[in-house]
Amino acid sequence: MLVLGIESTAHTFGAAVVAEKKGKISVLSNECFKYPSTKEGYIPRKLADFHAEHWNEAAEAALSKAGKALDGIDAFAYSQGPGIGHCLHVGWVAAKTLSLLCGKPLVPVNHTVAHVEVGKWWCKAKNPLVVYVSGGNTQIAALQKQDHNRHSHYRVFGETLDIGLGNFLDQVGRGLELEPPDAVGVLKEAAKGKALLPLPYTVKGMSVAYAGLLTKTKKMKGTAPAADICYSAQEYAFSALVEATERCLCHTRNPEVLLCGGNARNRRLQEMLRLMSEEQGARFCVTPDDLSGDQAGMIALTGLLMLKAKAVPRDAEPRQRMRLDEPEIKW
Ligand code: FE2
Repeated sequence: MLVLGIESTAHTFGAAVVAEKKGKISVLSNECFKYPSTKEGYIPRKLADFHAEHWNEAAEAALSKAGKALDGIDAFAYSQGPGIGHCLHVGWVAAKTLSLLCGKPLVPVNHTVAHVEVGKWWCKAKNPLVVYVSGGNTQIAALQKQDHNRHSHYRVFGETLDIGLGNFLDQVGRGLELEPPDAVGVLKEAAKGKALLPLPYTVKGMSVAYAGLLTKTKKMKGTAPAADICYSAQEYAFSALVEATERCLCHTRNPEVLLCGGNARNRRLQEMLRLMSEEQGARFCVTPDDLSGDQAGMIALTGLLMLKAKAVPRDAEPRQRMRLDEPEIKW
């Protein structure tokens, strides 16, 4: 079975081909066109124009790299949400067009579930406590079976009460006018920092909050070296998340901790979560860099799992708000 996936929830337009043969799944291609980060942040209409300009190029590149023809594709999966409305719409129209053209099913995929599934697949994780960190999302969750009907859903035990970890780091980067003005700039600057400056730290049960930390960090611009501010901002933000995750792990006792989502690439966050997980007797696993950010490989993979489990929803229109704990997980 061959599935072509399309991703367009935010700044990235991606297309990928995933194959399944004798139960073995492989990602044959995973092409990304990313809108560059700017000091102003992202403007939805400009992102959608960028996606509309690149969607066919991305799809052609994915097919060519996979060595497959369009008429050999068995289904078209696309990111249904959550995401920016303008961007989601372009991906939906592209996937729907290909699906109608080829007479093959359209599979709407929950983007947050896809981030988790690709990590589980790559790490061969059986039952992980998931730490999902991206621009808009910061959630600690695990798959739970409901006793009465035996259906499974991801249950979110803790999450950010205001902004996502990725948005927090991006806004620190923009506030301090780093280059690039985002989480990558913060990471680069933090590597040079030495002094841990006093900042607000908010953990409420198994949830975290970053808005107060962001306000204080922005106000510190010019009062201390940018490297120390970035180092401290990261240490406080990550420590809060690790504390909440540890509390959750002590409660659920999952055998694995899986770090996934775009900000899973941060080596300091990986190190802190690994230390905590191993201390608690859980195997730590992390989605590799090329599958952690927004890309279509995870969409095609999850679409394939949904098709095989006959779990394709009828409602295929894009939705700006979707949650990890919404869909039934039948695979
Ligand atoms: Fe994402």
